[in-house]
Amino acid sequence: MAQRSEAVGSIALKDARQVTIRALLETDRPALAAFGQSLPKNDILYLEDDFTHPEIISRLANAAHAENWRQIIATTDEGEFVGYTAAMRMPGWSNHVANIRLIVQPNYRRSGLGMHLAQAIVEASRELGATKVTVEMLAALTAGQAIFSRLGFAVEGQLARHAIDRDGNLHDIVIMSAFVRI
Ligand SMILES: CC(C)(COP(=O)(O)OP(=O)(O)OC[C@H]1O[C@@H](n2cnc3c(N)ncnc32)[C@H](O)[C@@H]1OP(=O)(O)O)[C@@H](O)C(=O)NCCC(=O)NCCS
Repeated sequence: MAQRSEAVGSIALKDARQVTIRALLETDRPALAAFGQSLPKNDILYLEDDFTHPEIISRLANAAHAENWRQIIATTDEGEFVGYTAAMRMPGWSNHVANIRLIVQPNYRRSGLGMHLAQAIVEASRELGATKVTVEMLAALTAGQAIFSRLGFAVEGQLARHAIDRDGNLHDIVIMSAFVRI
């Protein structure tokens, strides 16, 4: 198994708050569930994974040691999770591609945490052996596009009405990608 070095330790955010960034553990299930419950309705509506769903939380916690996944969380000293990011290596002929997810709790946004986590997960994707990294998000989610553009990702395509939110409304999604060196 590839070396896992995504536990990057303690970081100071732009507003001077401290958080620790580390790999997700199987025992983190309750904290991950609490993180999901702390997200606003709009986030839940527009994210690919439903973080309020116990089965999704179990699937993520169970994948803590999965060969083709890397999951990283940001936690306060009190053990409250305030950010989550994951990279999943794709199966089949795209097995050189890792797909990324990223979410930061609203109270911790615009402090640089999203950028720290995005950098950490791109590095983890490289460790997974991926040479291409993709991220998909609703076209309306401009903050995520801004972060990944700054990391050198380019918009590779847009799919019309490709996502359906939990209220049944259709949305366009944007696919961004970057090529990384192992
Ligand atoms: C996208 C997200 C992770 C950003 O997290 P964050 O911690 O606020 O990001 P950062 O503070 O590191 O922002 C880094 C840069 O991104 C850009 N950015 C972030 N939020 C932005 C916003 N709301 N509007 C415009 N630009 C934004 C800025 O350029 C920012 O740098 P600056 O603050 O120096 O101007 C967060 O908004 C989120 O969780 N959104 C919902 C989920 C999502 O869209 N995920 C992305 C795809 S999976």
